[in-house]
Amino acid sequence: MHANDLELHAQGRSTFVDDIAPPAGLLHAFPVVSTIAHGLIASIDFSEALACSGVAAIMTAADIPGDNNIGNVETEEVLFAEQTVMYQGQPIALVVAESEHEARHAAARIKVDYRELPAVFDAREAHRQGLHIAPPRIFSLGDIEQAWQTCDVIVEGKTQSGAQEHVYLETQTALVYPLENGGLRVVSATQSPGMVQRVIARVLKLTMTQVEVDVLRLGGGFGGKEEQATAWAAIAALAASRLQRPVKIRLSRSDDMRWTGKRHPYDADFKIGLDRSGKILAYDVNFYQNAGAVADLSLAILERTLFHACNSYFIPNVRASAVSCRTNLPPNTAFRGFGGPQAMFVLEAAIFKAAAALQIDAAEIQRLNLMQEGQAFPYGMPAIECRAGLCWERLQENLALSRRQQAINDFNASHRLEKKALALMPICFGISFTATFLNQAGALVHIYADGSVGVSCGAVEMGQGVKQKIGNIVASTFSIDRERVKVESTNTSRIANMSPTAASVGADLNGQATLLACRQILQGLKRVAAGLLDIEAKADKIVIEQERVYFNGQPTAIGWNQLISEAYLSRTALSAHAHYATPGVYFDRSKEQGRPFAYHVYGCAAVEVTVDCLRGIYRIDEVAIVHDGGKSLAPEVDLGQVEGGLMQGLGWMTIEDIRHDSQGRLLNDTLTAYKIPDIHFAPEINVEFVAKDNPAAILHSKAVGEPPFMYGIGVYFALIKAIQAFNPAFEPEFTAPMTPEKVLLALYAES
Ligand code: MTE
Ligand code: MOS
Repeated sequence: MHANDLELHAQGRSTFVDDIAPPAGLLHAFPVVSTIAHGLIASIDFSEALACSGVAAIMTAADIPGDNNIGNVETEEVLFAEQTVMYQGQPIALVVAESEHEARHAAARIKVDYRELPAVFDAREAHRQGLHIAPPRIFSLGDIEQAWQTCDVIVEGKTQSGAQEHVYLETQTALVYPLENGGLRVVSATQSPGMVQRVIARVLKLTMTQVEVDVLRLGGGFGGKEEQATAWAAIAALAASRLQRPVKIRLSRSDDMRWTGKRHPYDADFKIGLDRSGKILAYDVNFYQNAGAVADLSLAILERTLFHACNSYFIPNVRASAVSCRTNLPPNTAFRGFGGPQAMFVLEAAIFKAAAALQIDAAEIQRLNLMQEGQAFPYGMPAIECRAGLCWERLQENLALSRRQQAINDFNASHRLEKKALALMPICFGISFTATFLNQAGALVHIYADGSVGVSCGAVEMGQGVKQKIGNIVASTFSIDRERVKVESTNTSRIANMSPTAASVGADLNGQATLLACRQILQGLKRVAAGLLDIEAKADKIVIEQERVYFNGQPTAIGWNQLISEAYLSRTALSAHAHYATPGVYFDRSKEQGRPFAYHVYGCAAVEVTVDCLRGIYRIDEVAIVHDGGKSLAPEVDLGQVEGGLMQGLGWMTIEDIRHDSQGRLLNDTLTAYKIPDIHFAPEINVEFVAKDNPAAILHSKAVGEPPFMYGIGVYFALIKAIQAFNPAFEPEFTAPMTPEKVLLALYAES
């Protein structure tokens, strides 16, 4: 009855914003953006553009009826630059025309005169100049100064990890219809319909009830549409509101690559101290985050970097500081892992360097320091149901690791120009929004008189299968055929004040709200069934199993269809709305202590690579994973999430190499110049789920979206090991990505 998203995608039948038939009178919007990274706008000449054919209007900040402010918290985040431009690609004005071609053509004829100001693109340089988005944050545990005295080995170093382009298949886009009440209907490719609604209302001086945002599905988001879909929707909304005609905006791939933010590049300094056996006694780390020009989500991402500074290891003495540095790049933003991967890369580099100093295998240090039940993270939360050790051990068994390592050694001994290596990568990721208030959701469930069920909630489908999971929750709660359940679009008129679909909690939060709404209806249905069976007092002995009413464990003659039509005729509520808020999560930023997460997800990966030592190219042979799951809400979806997350992590560490010129212009702004993993790059992936109960989440499941990304970090260290098998003199600099070009240089580097 209802084809699910996976089937529709496979058949090419899924509708995205750009597939919606153009409404009558449709206009097209296209922005004029800054061509310099930092400067003042001296003057703008619109005359030539105004004379272009098809132009309906040109708008600037002066045309905004409300606030020129699209930020979540900060007022500095403007929709259109007024006096100052802060990055190449920042919108300054907007052309609206009869066709997209005419809008682009006219936009190119608007002449902006700038007075250029010095620009900064590097986080450490911004830090030196005191260009911070906010003051630094520090997490600490134990007494680090004292701990250094007790260490047998102390190593220090620096790391760098690069930006990453989201490469969602659907680029940023929105389609806005004016409504008769002066309001707007906004079809936006956003992970945050609630934010798009709130910001458009603020920009256009409307009430939130006048702005309806609807999202059917996204062609991928990966964090890139959590905050950064908003501006484009607001631009189209401004035009539609002023001209009272429907307006569409869509970015080309290269516009999108040049103008929107990416994963934050990070620089870091580390110092790690261990005893002779490899036990980590102290870890000191400073993170310098490259925020880009405005805050966006940088501070929340920075905070998660601190939460994950110790990954899945217990370290008794820790000092982790982090600062968000303002540069003149497009604002960097959420990307799967949300600052966690950047933190974990640094600690793995520290462990790798310490292992060399101790002349032991890094895996030995990893194993020895894995988090154990009840031990505390530096932010004060204990590890409960800790599965770090379990996943590690299971992986060792699955791989027969010592035999595997022997095979690699034998291979390397018998091959001069090819070298293999294997690295392990344990992970730990906290599940919940760290902004505590976001951990809430609503759901609205309707049972129609024919027994079919519609459910609306705040979860946005972006390929992660959340609709599949929500539908499964409804079907299992009512014990009805999955085909009866339709998961509706995500719509702000049906669900108010929705949180973004992010932080991997889409199914956790919205699934719980859905479950609560279903249970409300179910209470009424049981009373109806009891009435039909003349056992009113015993409604609590009634259950519905596979579309049939059971009493005292025995099937009755009442089926689902009859039950629903009786409920309708007896005027029983067949609709319910429910709200869910994750219990027990809090964080005190004055002390940097609390219980920010409902629970943690653990896991461990083994990444095996082969390096071609003549050419520097490499192959990722196999990634074996033991992943900490719960009772899966949709096993096929969870497997896809682990594989997909891993692939993005592998890409970030290896071939995805964002380059800017000295003026801050993105050099690789096409997919021919910016390479992401494809099917040929993909290794053999073997995943085992440790499927244990997770009482902390919906129906004992576990969130899965982001954590697997971090398995990809292992490939960096596998490559380094393989290079060292060829060139023992090579000393890694811990700068990612490890492109084939860098591998080649490393293979022939002299110490
Ligand atoms: N998987 C697909 N196919 N497409 C996506 O855009 N986004 C990831 C992850 N998996 C994404 C994805 C990110 S960044 C997050 S936070 C989660 O899915 C969000 O969805 P969830 O909360 O339902 O897991
Ligand atoms: Mo995901 S980075 O939290 O959208």
